[in-house]
Amino acid sequence: MMDKIKRPIITLDGPSASGKGTIAKLIAKDFNLYNLETGVFYRVLGKEFLGKSINGDILKFLSGLKKNIFLINKSYKKELYQEKIGVEASKLAKLKVVRSFILLEQKKILTNYPKKFKGIILEGRDCGTVIAPEANIKFFLNAKVEIRAKRRYEQLLTKKNEINYENILKDLISRDRNDIKRKHSPLKKADDATEIDCSFRSIEETIMIVKKIILSKLPNFK
Ligand code: C5P
Repeated sequence: MMDKIKRPIITLDGPSASGKGTIAKLIAKDFNLYNLETGVFYRVLGKEFLGKSINGDILKFLSGLKKNIFLINKSYKKELYQEKIGVEASKLAKLKVVRSFILLEQKKILTNYPKKFKGIILEGRDCGTVIAPEANIKFFLNAKVEIRAKRRYEQLLTKKNEINYENILKDLISRDRNDIKRKHSPLKKADDATEIDCSFRSIEETIMIVKKIILSKLPNFK
């Protein structure tokens, strides 16, 4: 049995629509890892904050939240992927007080996730740099913004939404800018992370690379 404290930590950071969510999910399933989607925390607060002013008293907002606000079910989670919630989440993610509030919750999970898992994979923007700088293996996934926009466009097309490539591209460019330029915990590659450029790789190819690296560093995961 693996020691609870020593269970491996893997981080996967990268910009919006780089494929890291899909990859983390599949890797977690294959290796029996707990999958911590760190963006969900910002989206939950984004949803709760919708319609409120960012200049309002953010501390009061945070202290008024329900204790188990991050314990969500599937249908609530589905709602979080609305465009307007993503935009709100990204605005809140700039604020230090919001980041500290969320970081505390994420750190709790890092040490207390269920025993049935062999380890944990975290996916987001600041996993390898801020949430788990002690991680055993770190990845940074990247792809050209035009390619990420094209992939998201094709993904949304299958859902028959009314969509427009130019708008998706504009949105991704602005999200990248917000994530990279923000003062607190910006999106950046950890010094010890392996960077993978997915611009011209399929998800399957990227997963193979990620798995190969994981198995070379954690051979008992086989
Ligand atoms: O990854 P996802 O798109 O669900 O994240 C929603 C928003 O939360 C992002 O636009 C980003 O600004 C923010 N975020 C963050 N740090 C993380 C994960 C997400 O700032 N670790």
